[in-house]
Amino acid sequence: MKIAMLARNAKLYSHQRLKDAAEERGHELEIINTLRCYMNIASRRPEIFYNGERLPVYDAVIPRIGASVTFYGLAVLRQFEMMGVFPLNESVAIGRSRDKLRSMQILARDGIGLPVTTFAHDPSQTEEVVKLAGGAPLVVKLLEGTQGIGVVLADTDRSAKSVIEAFRGANVNILVQEFIKEAGGSDIRASWSAARSWRR
Ligand SMILES: Nc1ncnc2c1ncn2[C@@H]1O[C@H](COP(=O)(O)OP(=O)(O)OP(=O)(O)O)[C@@H](O)[C@H]1O
Ligand SMILES: [Mg+2]
Repeated sequence: MKIAMLARNAKLYSHQRLKDAAEERGHELEIINTLRCYMNIASRRPEIFYNGERLPVYDAVIPRIGASVTFYGLAVLRQFEMMGVFPLNESVAIGRSRDKLRSMQILARDGIGLPVTTFAHDPSQTEEVVKLAGGAPLVVKLLEGTQGIGVVLADTDRSAKSVIEAFRGANVNILVQEFIKEAGGSDIRASWSAARSWRR
């Protein structure tokens, strides 16, 4: 297969390992700098340009889009999808995963057990939100953030309220969550390929 990998730094070890593994299996894999792609949205004729040339139609695309370039990265990935290129992870799935509230809503809908999670817009509901989440200790987190950035543990109701108010004052969206002590600060990474749901 002819595979494109969307990445920013081609030299990164994990990108290179995927390239080696693909080539060992007889595939061709090109690493394309996501941010250097540009495109024109023409009716029925989606194209992507790179270094002054039109990209060929690949069989598959492996998106490795960092959180800092989600918006542009997903626009490029969607263009590959419009061209009929099979994405290892669909743009819609990546978009859902980048929003903590949205991903929790999807997991909850399918019956996955989750910490009690609350979300509100109006600052006058801060007290209600703390109560609804079961009171301190509580975890307050930014809707968009990764690797622990913007995740705060509040030990008391009072500190929870001030953290919530501070975030709201900065005009950012947050969710408030029951603190799961048994988690012991661990971080479990799980992934599931979108392959099964593609073109159903
Ligand atoms: N409700 C919670 N109870 C206990 N610990 C938590 C809770 N939420 C988060 N943590 C701890 O904080 C860490 C970071 O939180 P979380 O995984 O939600 O954010 P992130 O790692 O920044 O984002 P993402 O996992 O989407 O990349 C978790 O790995 C976990 O150790
Ligand atoms: Mg995490």
